[in-house]
Amino acid sequence: MALTDPSKRLQAIPPYMFAELERKIEQKAEEGINVISLGIGDPDTPTFRYVVEAMREAVGDPSTHKYPSNRGRPEFREAFADFYLSRFGVEIDAVDEVIPAIGAKECIYNLCFAFLDPGDVALASDPGYPVYTAGPVLAGAEAQLLPLAPELGFAPDLDAIPEEKLAAARLMFINYPNNPTGAIVPDGFFERVVELAREHEFLVAHDNAYSETTYDGYVAPSFLATPGAKEVGVEVFSLSKGFNMTGWRCAAILGNADAVKTYWRLKTNVDSGLFEAVQLAGAAALRGPRKHVEEMCSIYERRRDLVVDALREIGVEVDAPKGTIYVWAPVPEGHTSTSFVEMVLEEAAVVISPGSMYGPSGEGFFRISLTTPDELLTEAVERLRSHLS
Ligand SMILES: Cc1ncc(COP(=O)(O)O)c(C=O)c1O
Repeated sequence: MALTDPSKRLQAIPPYMFAELERKIEQKAEEGINVISLGIGDPDTPTFRYVVEAMREAVGDPSTHKYPSNRGRPEFREAFADFYLSRFGVEIDAVDEVIPAIGAKECIYNLCFAFLDPGDVALASDPGYPVYTAGPVLAGAEAQLLPLAPELGFAPDLDAIPEEKLAAARLMFINYPNNPTGAIVPDGFFERVVELAREHEFLVAHDNAYSETTYDGYVAPSFLATPGAKEVGVEVFSLSKGFNMTGWRCAAILGNADAVKTYWRLKTNVDSGLFEAVQLAGAAALRGPRKHVEEMCSIYERRRDLVVDALREIGVEVDAPKGTIYVWAPVPEGHTSTSFVEMVLEEAAVVISPGSMYGPSGEGFFRISLTTPDELLTEAVERLRSHLS
Protein backbone atom coordinates (compact mmCIF):
# COMPACT_ATOMS: atom_id res chain seq x y z
CA MET A 1 0.00 0.00 0.00
CA ALA A 2 1.36 3.43 -0.91
CA LEU A 3 1.82 6.18 1.64
CA THR A 4 -1.02 8.29 0.26
CA ASP A 5 -3.49 5.53 -0.62
CA PRO A 6 -6.94 6.26 0.72
CA SER A 7 -8.51 3.91 3.23
CA LYS A 8 -10.53 0.98 1.93
CA ARG A 9 -13.69 2.71 3.16
CA LEU A 10 -12.90 5.82 1.16
CA GLN A 11 -11.99 3.76 -1.88
CA ALA A 12 -15.43 2.16 -1.70
CA ILE A 13 -17.05 5.56 -2.41
CA PRO A 14 -17.30 6.77 -6.02
CA PRO A 15 -15.69 10.20 -6.59
CA TYR A 16 -17.93 13.12 -5.54
CA MET A 17 -20.46 13.34 -8.32
CA PHE A 18 -20.00 16.95 -9.34
CA ALA A 19 -16.21 16.62 -9.68
CA GLU A 20 -16.52 14.97 -13.11
CA LEU A 21 -19.09 17.52 -14.29
CA GLU A 22 -16.90 20.39 -13.14
CA ARG A 23 -13.95 18.92 -15.03
CA LYS A 24 -15.97 18.76 -18.25
CA ILE A 25 -17.23 22.33 -17.87
CA GLU A 26 -13.69 23.57 -17.32
CA GLN A 27 -12.52 21.73 -20.41
CA LYS A 28 -15.23 23.40 -22.51
CA ALA A 29 -14.38 26.81 -21.03
CA GLU A 30 -10.74 26.25 -22.00
CA GLU A 31 -11.92 25.56 -25.54
CA GLY A 32 -13.61 28.99 -25.43
CA ILE A 33 -17.15 27.60 -25.36
CA ASN A 34 -19.65 29.39 -23.14
CA VAL A 35 -21.26 26.58 -21.18
CA ILE A 36 -24.42 27.18 -19.13
CA SER A 37 -24.64 24.94 -16.10
CA LEU A 38 -28.02 23.74 -14.89
CA GLY A 39 -26.27 21.13 -12.76
CA ILE A 40 -25.84 22.18 -9.17
CA GLY A 41 -28.71 23.30 -6.91
CA ASP A 42 -27.22 26.39 -5.32
CA PRO A 43 -29.55 29.45 -5.10
CA ASP A 44 -28.30 32.19 -7.43
CA THR A 45 -29.75 35.12 -5.49
CA PRO A 46 -28.12 36.37 -2.29
CA THR A 47 -29.15 35.59 1.27
CA PHE A 48 -32.04 37.87 2.30
CA ARG A 49 -30.82 41.30 3.43
CA TYR A 50 -32.39 41.10 6.89
CA VAL A 51 -30.42 37.90 7.56
CA VAL A 52 -27.17 39.53 6.44
CA GLU A 53 -27.93 42.49 8.75
CA ALA A 54 -28.57 40.11 11.67
CA MET A 55 -25.23 38.45 10.92
CA ARG A 56 -23.45 41.81 10.83
CA GLU A 57 -24.78 42.60 14.27
CA ALA A 58 -24.04 39.14 15.64
CA VAL A 59 -20.45 39.24 14.43
CA GLY A 60 -19.99 42.49 16.36
CA ASP A 61 -21.07 40.79 19.59
CA PRO A 62 -17.98 39.36 21.34
CA SER A 63 -20.12 36.68 23.02
CA THR A 64 -20.25 34.93 19.63
CA HIS A 65 -16.47 34.79 19.24
CA LYS A 66 -15.74 31.86 21.51
CA TYR A 67 -16.06 28.15 20.85
CA PRO A 68 -19.74 27.49 20.38
CA SER A 69 -21.34 24.77 22.46
CA ASN A 70 -22.68 21.89 20.44
CA ARG A 71 -26.03 22.28 22.20
CA GLY A 72 -26.53 25.61 20.52
CA ARG A 73 -27.58 29.03 21.79
CA PRO A 74 -31.01 29.31 23.40
CA GLU A 75 -31.95 31.95 20.77
CA PHE A 76 -31.31 29.36 18.02
CA ARG A 77 -33.17 26.51 19.71
CA GLU A 78 -36.12 28.71 20.64
CA ALA A 79 -36.38 30.17 17.13
CA PHE A 80 -36.54 26.62 15.77
CA ALA A 81 -39.17 25.56 18.31
CA ASP A 82 -41.33 28.60 17.44
CA PHE A 83 -40.84 28.06 13.70
CA TYR A 84 -41.80 24.38 13.92
CA LEU A 85 -44.95 25.25 15.83
CA SER A 86 -46.10 28.05 13.56
CA ARG A 87 -44.99 26.55 10.27
CA PHE A 88 -45.64 22.83 10.81
CA GLY A 89 -47.85 22.62 13.92
CA VAL A 90 -45.12 20.52 15.58
CA GLU A 91 -44.20 21.03 19.23
CA ILE A 92 -40.46 20.95 19.85
CA ASP A 93 -38.93 21.19 23.29
CA ALA A 94 -36.25 23.87 22.84
CA VAL A 95 -34.19 22.32 25.64
CA ASP A 96 -33.67 18.77 24.46
CA GLU A 97 -35.33 18.23 21.08
CA VAL A 98 -33.23 20.51 18.86
CA ILE A 99 -29.55 21.29 18.35
CA PRO A 100 -27.62 23.01 15.53
CA ALA A 101 -25.90 21.18 12.69
CA ILE A 102 -23.18 22.54 10.40
CA GLY A 103 -25.44 21.91 7.40
CA ALA A 104 -27.69 18.93 6.70
CA LYS A 105 -24.83 17.12 5.00
CA GLU A 106 -22.70 17.11 8.15
CA CYS A 107 -25.70 16.02 10.17
CA ILE A 108 -26.59 13.07 7.95
CA TYR A 109 -22.97 11.95 7.77
CA ASN A 110 -22.53 12.11 11.52
CA LEU A 111 -25.83 10.34 12.17
CA CYS A 112 -24.21 7.37 10.42
CA PHE A 113 -21.28 7.43 12.84
CA ALA A 114 -23.57 7.94 15.80
CA PHE A 115 -25.86 4.98 15.02
CA LEU A 116 -24.16 2.49 12.70
CA ASP A 117 -21.66 -0.28 13.34
CA PRO A 118 -20.18 -2.76 10.88
CA GLY A 119 -22.94 -5.25 10.00
CA ASP A 120 -25.67 -2.63 10.41
CA VAL A 121 -27.79 -1.41 7.55
CA ALA A 122 -29.02 2.07 6.61
CA LEU A 123 -32.05 2.14 4.31
CA ALA A 124 -31.44 4.85 1.72
CA SER A 125 -33.62 6.32 -1.04
CA ASP A 126 -32.38 5.58 -4.57
CA PRO A 127 -32.03 7.95 -6.36
CA GLY A 128 -31.04 10.09 -3.41
CA TYR A 129 -28.72 12.72 -2.00
CA PRO A 130 -25.34 10.95 -2.14
CA VAL A 131 -24.44 11.16 1.57
CA TYR A 132 -27.31 8.72 2.39
CA THR A 133 -25.16 5.99 0.84
CA ALA A 134 -21.62 7.37 1.32
CA GLY A 135 -22.23 8.03 5.05
CA PRO A 136 -23.12 4.42 5.94
CA VAL A 137 -20.24 3.02 3.87
CA LEU A 138 -17.71 5.39 5.46
CA ALA A 139 -19.05 4.36 8.87
CA GLY A 140 -18.25 0.74 7.97
CA ALA A 141 -21.90 -0.24 7.58
CA GLU A 142 -24.03 -1.05 4.56
CA ALA A 143 -26.49 1.07 2.59
CA GLN A 144 -29.55 -0.82 1.39
CA LEU A 145 -30.96 1.05 -1.59
CA LEU A 146 -34.70 1.66 -1.64
CA PRO A 147 -35.64 2.27 -5.29
CA LEU A 148 -38.05 5.18 -5.66
CA ALA A 149 -40.79 3.94 -7.96
CA PRO A 150 -42.26 6.50 -10.40
CA GLU A 151 -45.59 4.59 -10.28
CA LEU A 152 -45.67 5.05 -6.49
CA GLY A 153 -45.11 8.80 -6.80
CA PHE A 154 -41.35 8.29 -6.27
CA ALA A 155 -41.80 6.57 -2.93
CA PRO A 156 -40.05 3.29 -2.17
CA ASP A 157 -42.09 0.09 -2.09
CA LEU A 158 -41.76 -0.60 1.64
CA ASP A 159 -43.12 -4.14 1.21
CA ALA A 160 -40.24 -4.98 -1.11
CA ILE A 161 -37.45 -4.40 1.45
CA PRO A 162 -35.83 -7.79 2.16
CA GLU A 163 -36.63 -9.10 5.68
CA GLU A 164 -32.95 -9.60 6.60
CA LYS A 165 -32.19 -5.97 5.68
CA LEU A 166 -35.07 -4.74 7.82
CA ALA A 167 -33.77 -6.86 10.68
CA ALA A 168 -30.29 -5.30 10.36
CA ALA A 169 -31.58 -1.76 9.74
CA ARG A 170 -30.70 0.90 12.30
CA LEU A 171 -31.33 4.01 10.18
CA MET A 172 -33.57 5.05 7.33
CA PHE A 173 -33.03 8.17 5.21
CA ILE A 174 -36.03 9.70 3.46
CA ASN A 175 -36.51 13.11 1.88
CA TYR A 176 -39.67 14.94 0.71
CA PRO A 177 -39.97 17.20 -1.23
CA ASN A 178 -37.44 14.94 -2.87
CA ASN A 179 -34.07 15.60 -4.45
CA PRO A 180 -33.59 14.65 -7.28
CA THR A 181 -37.12 13.64 -8.37
CA GLY A 182 -38.99 16.79 -7.23
CA ALA A 183 -41.68 14.49 -5.80
CA ILE A 184 -43.79 15.45 -2.82
CA VAL A 185 -44.63 12.94 -0.12
CA PRO A 186 -47.43 10.60 -1.22
CA ASP A 187 -50.48 10.44 1.08
CA GLY A 188 -49.98 8.01 3.95
CA PHE A 189 -46.28 7.40 3.26
CA PHE A 190 -44.92 9.00 6.45
CA GLU A 191 -47.51 7.04 8.49
CA ARG A 192 -46.34 3.76 6.93
CA VAL A 193 -42.71 4.64 7.64
CA VAL A 194 -43.54 5.25 11.32
CA GLU A 195 -45.23 1.82 11.51
CA LEU A 196 -42.29 0.08 9.86
CA ALA A 197 -39.74 1.82 12.09
CA ARG A 198 -41.71 0.83 15.20
CA GLU A 199 -41.95 -2.76 14.06
CA HIS A 200 -38.27 -3.13 13.14
CA GLU A 201 -36.81 -0.66 15.62
CA PHE A 202 -34.79 1.65 13.42
CA LEU A 203 -34.39 5.41 13.54
CA VAL A 204 -35.92 7.43 10.71
CA ALA A 205 -34.03 10.53 9.59
CA HIS A 206 -36.20 12.75 7.41
CA ASP A 207 -34.11 15.20 5.41
CA ASN A 208 -36.29 18.27 5.17
CA ALA A 209 -34.13 20.38 2.88
CA TYR A 210 -36.92 21.57 0.57
CA SER A 211 -40.09 22.16 2.59
CA GLU A 212 -39.92 25.90 1.91
CA THR A 213 -39.47 25.69 -1.88
CA THR A 214 -42.88 24.54 -3.12
CA TYR A 215 -45.26 25.56 -5.92
CA ASP A 216 -48.86 25.66 -7.07
CA GLY A 217 -50.03 26.36 -3.51
CA TYR A 218 -48.60 23.11 -2.13
CA VAL A 219 -47.44 23.37 1.51
CA ALA A 220 -44.98 20.66 2.53
CA PRO A 221 -45.44 19.01 5.92
CA SER A 222 -42.81 18.06 8.49
CA PHE A 223 -42.30 14.33 9.03
CA LEU A 224 -42.51 15.13 12.75
CA ALA A 225 -46.17 16.11 12.31
CA THR A 226 -46.96 12.43 11.66
CA PRO A 227 -48.47 10.75 14.75
CA GLY A 228 -45.74 8.74 16.52
CA ALA A 229 -42.92 10.21 14.41
CA LYS A 230 -41.06 11.64 17.37
CA GLU A 231 -40.88 8.18 18.97
CA VAL A 232 -38.97 6.81 16.00
CA GLY A 233 -37.45 9.72 14.21
CA VAL A 234 -35.63 12.95 13.74
CA GLU A 235 -35.82 15.61 11.06
CA VAL A 236 -32.90 17.51 9.62
CA PHE A 237 -33.94 21.04 8.64
CA SER A 238 -31.52 23.04 6.52
CA LEU A 239 -31.68 26.77 5.85
CA SER A 240 -29.57 26.30 2.72
CA LYS A 241 -32.24 26.22 0.03
CA GLY A 242 -35.35 27.84 1.49
CA PHE A 243 -33.44 30.82 2.90
CA ASN A 244 -30.66 31.11 0.27
CA MET A 245 -28.00 30.22 2.84
CA THR A 246 -25.98 27.40 1.31
CA GLY A 247 -22.66 29.00 2.18
CA TRP A 248 -23.54 29.63 5.80
CA ARG A 249 -23.75 25.93 6.81
CA CYS A 250 -26.77 26.41 9.01
CA ALA A 251 -29.15 23.57 9.90
CA ALA A 252 -30.66 21.78 12.87
CA ILE A 253 -31.68 18.32 13.92
CA LEU A 254 -35.04 18.08 15.67
CA GLY A 255 -37.22 15.38 17.15
CA ASN A 256 -36.53 12.34 19.31
CA ALA A 257 -34.64 13.65 22.37
CA ASP A 258 -32.53 10.51 22.86
CA ALA A 259 -31.50 10.46 19.22
CA VAL A 260 -30.64 14.17 19.32
CA LYS A 261 -28.51 13.49 22.42
CA THR A 262 -26.66 10.62 20.74
CA TYR A 263 -25.90 12.83 17.73
CA TRP A 264 -24.69 15.54 20.15
CA ARG A 265 -22.45 13.01 21.90
CA LEU A 266 -20.84 12.05 18.59
CA LYS A 267 -20.38 15.70 17.62
CA THR A 268 -18.64 16.62 20.85
CA ASN A 269 -15.91 14.25 19.65
CA VAL A 270 -15.56 15.52 16.08
CA ASP A 271 -16.40 19.20 15.78
CA SER A 272 -16.75 22.27 17.92
CA GLY A 273 -20.14 23.49 16.87
CA LEU A 274 -21.73 26.07 14.62
CA PHE A 275 -20.34 29.64 14.79
CA GLU A 276 -22.72 31.40 17.19
CA ALA A 277 -23.09 34.42 14.91
CA VAL A 278 -24.41 32.05 12.24
CA GLN A 279 -26.78 30.59 14.82
CA LEU A 280 -28.13 34.08 15.58
CA ALA A 281 -28.47 34.86 11.87
CA GLY A 282 -30.26 31.53 11.39
CA ALA A 283 -32.64 32.38 14.22
CA ALA A 284 -33.32 35.75 12.58
CA ALA A 285 -33.98 34.02 9.25
CA LEU A 286 -36.60 31.75 10.81
CA ARG A 287 -38.29 34.64 12.61
CA GLY A 288 -38.22 36.93 9.58
CA PRO A 289 -41.03 37.95 7.25
CA ARG A 290 -42.35 35.11 5.11
CA LYS A 291 -42.50 37.26 1.96
CA HIS A 292 -38.85 36.63 1.01
CA VAL A 293 -39.33 32.87 0.96
CA GLU A 294 -42.54 33.34 -1.03
CA GLU A 295 -40.76 35.58 -3.55
CA MET A 296 -38.14 32.89 -4.10
CA CYS A 297 -40.87 30.32 -4.66
CA SER A 298 -42.49 32.47 -7.32
CA ILE A 299 -39.13 32.94 -9.07
CA TYR A 300 -38.52 29.16 -9.10
CA GLU A 301 -42.10 28.46 -10.15
CA ARG A 302 -41.71 30.75 -13.16
CA ARG A 303 -38.41 29.09 -14.09
CA ARG A 304 -39.93 25.65 -13.61
CA ASP A 305 -42.67 26.49 -16.12
CA LEU A 306 -40.09 27.79 -18.59
CA VAL A 307 -38.09 24.54 -18.39
CA VAL A 308 -41.10 22.21 -18.39
CA ASP A 309 -42.63 23.96 -21.45
CA ALA A 310 -39.35 23.76 -23.37
CA LEU A 311 -38.85 20.09 -22.52
CA ARG A 312 -42.37 19.23 -23.60
CA GLU A 313 -41.79 21.10 -26.87
CA ILE A 314 -38.77 18.95 -27.65
CA GLY A 315 -40.73 15.80 -26.90
CA VAL A 316 -39.67 15.05 -23.32
CA GLU A 317 -42.59 13.88 -21.18
CA VAL A 318 -42.21 15.65 -17.88
CA ASP A 319 -44.35 16.38 -14.84
CA ALA A 320 -44.09 19.85 -13.35
CA PRO A 321 -42.72 19.32 -9.81
CA LYS A 322 -44.61 20.81 -6.85
CA GLY A 323 -41.47 21.13 -4.76
CA THR A 324 -37.63 21.39 -4.66
CA ILE A 325 -35.57 23.40 -7.12
CA TYR A 326 -35.25 20.64 -9.73
CA VAL A 327 -37.00 19.29 -12.79
CA TRP A 328 -36.60 15.51 -13.16
CA ALA A 329 -37.37 14.02 -16.53
CA PRO A 330 -36.89 10.81 -18.53
CA VAL A 331 -34.20 10.81 -21.22
CA PRO A 332 -35.41 10.39 -24.80
CA GLU A 333 -35.58 6.85 -26.15
CA GLY A 334 -32.32 5.33 -27.27
CA HIS A 335 -30.31 7.24 -24.65
CA THR A 336 -28.84 6.41 -21.27
CA SER A 337 -28.63 9.17 -18.66
CA THR A 338 -24.96 9.71 -19.43
CA SER A 339 -25.22 9.59 -23.22
CA PHE A 340 -28.04 12.16 -23.14
CA VAL A 341 -26.21 14.51 -20.78
CA GLU A 342 -23.08 14.27 -22.91
CA MET A 343 -25.05 14.97 -26.05
CA VAL A 344 -26.69 18.03 -24.47
CA LEU A 345 -23.26 19.31 -23.42
CA GLU A 346 -21.77 18.71 -26.87
CA GLU A 347 -24.69 20.01 -28.95
CA ALA A 348 -26.15 22.77 -26.78
CA ALA A 349 -23.28 23.61 -24.39
CA VAL A 350 -25.67 23.13 -21.48
CA VAL A 351 -24.81 21.09 -18.40
CA ILE A 352 -27.54 18.94 -16.89
CA SER A 353 -27.12 16.14 -14.36
CA PRO A 354 -27.43 12.49 -15.32
CA GLY A 355 -29.99 10.74 -13.10
CA SER A 356 -27.59 7.85 -12.60
CA MET A 357 -25.40 10.14 -10.47
CA TYR A 358 -27.98 9.82 -7.71
CA GLY A 359 -28.12 6.03 -7.68
CA PRO A 360 -28.89 3.14 -10.03
CA SER A 361 -32.63 3.86 -10.04
CA GLY A 362 -31.87 7.31 -11.45
CA GLU A 363 -30.75 5.69 -14.71
CA GLY A 364 -32.96 6.79 -17.59
CA PHE A 365 -33.56 10.25 -16.10
CA PHE A 366 -31.86 13.64 -16.01
CA ARG A 367 -32.13 16.57 -13.60
CA ILE A 368 -32.25 20.29 -14.34
CA SER A 369 -31.64 22.73 -11.52
CA LEU A 370 -33.65 25.98 -11.41
CA THR A 371 -30.99 28.02 -9.63
CA THR A 372 -29.66 29.77 -12.73
CA PRO A 373 -30.49 33.49 -13.26
CA ASP A 374 -33.50 34.04 -15.56
CA GLU A 375 -31.53 35.39 -18.52
CA LEU A 376 -29.10 32.49 -18.57
CA LEU A 377 -31.85 29.96 -18.00
CA THR A 378 -33.82 31.43 -20.93
CA GLU A 379 -30.70 31.20 -23.09
CA ALA A 380 -30.14 27.58 -21.98
CA VAL A 381 -33.74 26.69 -22.76
CA GLU A 382 -33.43 28.31 -26.22
CA ARG A 383 -30.31 26.24 -26.88
CA LEU A 384 -32.15 23.05 -25.89
CA ARG A 385 -35.02 24.00 -28.19
CA SER A 386 -32.86 24.81 -31.19
CA HIS A 387 -30.34 21.95 -30.87
CA LEU A 388 -32.59 19.13 -29.72
CA SER A 389 -35.89 19.70 -31.50
C1 LIG B 1 -31.78 16.43 -0.08
C2 LIG B 1 -30.68 17.31 0.35
N1 LIG B 1 -30.28 17.29 1.62
C3 LIG B 1 -29.29 18.08 2.06
C4 LIG B 1 -28.62 18.93 1.22
C5 LIG B 1 -27.50 19.77 1.74
O1 LIG B 1 -27.92 20.62 2.74
P1 LIG B 1 -26.87 21.51 3.53
O2 LIG B 1 -26.44 22.62 2.63
O3 LIG B 1 -27.61 21.98 4.73
O4 LIG B 1 -25.71 20.62 3.90
C6 LIG B 1 -28.98 18.98 -0.13
C7 LIG B 1 -28.25 19.84 -1.07
O5 LIG B 1 -28.35 19.76 -2.25
C8 LIG B 1 -30.03 18.14 -0.57
O6 LIG B 1 -30.41 18.14 -1.85
